[in-house]
Amino acid sequence: MPASAVPLSPSRPSLLDTLAHAAVERACTAFRQEAGNEAGPPVLVDATLGNGHDAAFLLSCAPPGALVLGVDVQPRAVQAAAERLRAACDARPDCRVQIFCRDHEELPEIWAALPPEERERPLLAAVFNLGWLPGGDKSCLTRADSTLAALDFLLERLMPRGCLSVHCYTGNDGGPEEEKAVLRRAAVLPPRRWRVIRCADANREPAGGRAESLILMERLPVSRRKG
Ligand SMILES: C[S@@+](CC[C@H](N)C(=O)[O-])C[C@H]1O[C@@H](n2cnc3c(N)ncnc32)[C@H](O)[C@@H]1O
Repeated sequence: MPASAVPLSPSRPSLLDTLAHAAVERACTAFRQEAGNEAGPPVLVDATLGNGHDAAFLLSCAPPGALVLGVDVQPRAVQAAAERLRAACDARPDCRVQIFCRDHEELPEIWAALPPEERERPLLAAVFNLGWLPGGDKSCLTRADSTLAALDFLLERLMPRGCLSVHCYTGNDGGPEEEKAVLRRAAVLPPRRWRVIRCADANREPAGGRAESLILMERLPVSRRKG
């Protein structure tokens, strides 16, 4: 079913989720047009699997033969995501999905344990949806230190035209600090190599309320000089 035909629930995908998904879709389109045949099937990562909505989206728009990795530290989330992903997997038998009940700061180990042919694949997209599991334990929140460790690993691997998105909840406890840490990291990415965009609520208090922001990082293609 094309994304435009999926019925919208009142809360999902939110406006920022939709922007994050559009950025991933753009990377997938660029991959199909430019890199598809040379680079081999790519990897897409959901670093905060939660209830599996974002991972199901990644799978729906992944280029043929892609590997989708999902990571969440909570068994309850991994179970919910596995259930949601069952139907999505049936619709994409060409792709492989692997989910891990681990802290995303362990992504280097997770990646290193992939079969050799998969660990050589290019990373096309990665998404973080920070905070807690909707409907779950609010004390199990993402933390700036592990978010940054995972982010650094993924930024290093991201291919040109690839996209990394971080959906921040600045109204959560620790949310403003976590967003600042991600922004500090994003701000030092060289502008000739990266496009970084932040989109944030303009009419909500940044802390203590329900404010959110989205940070998108796109690795730019290396331009080939003519002549
Ligand atoms: C907002 S939810 C993610 C929503 C999800 N992307 C979806 O589509 O339903 C945030 C998730 O991050 C997970 N989480 C918190 N700390 C984590 C960590 N250090 N490593 C991996 N996942 C973590 C939580 O368990 C929670 O399920």
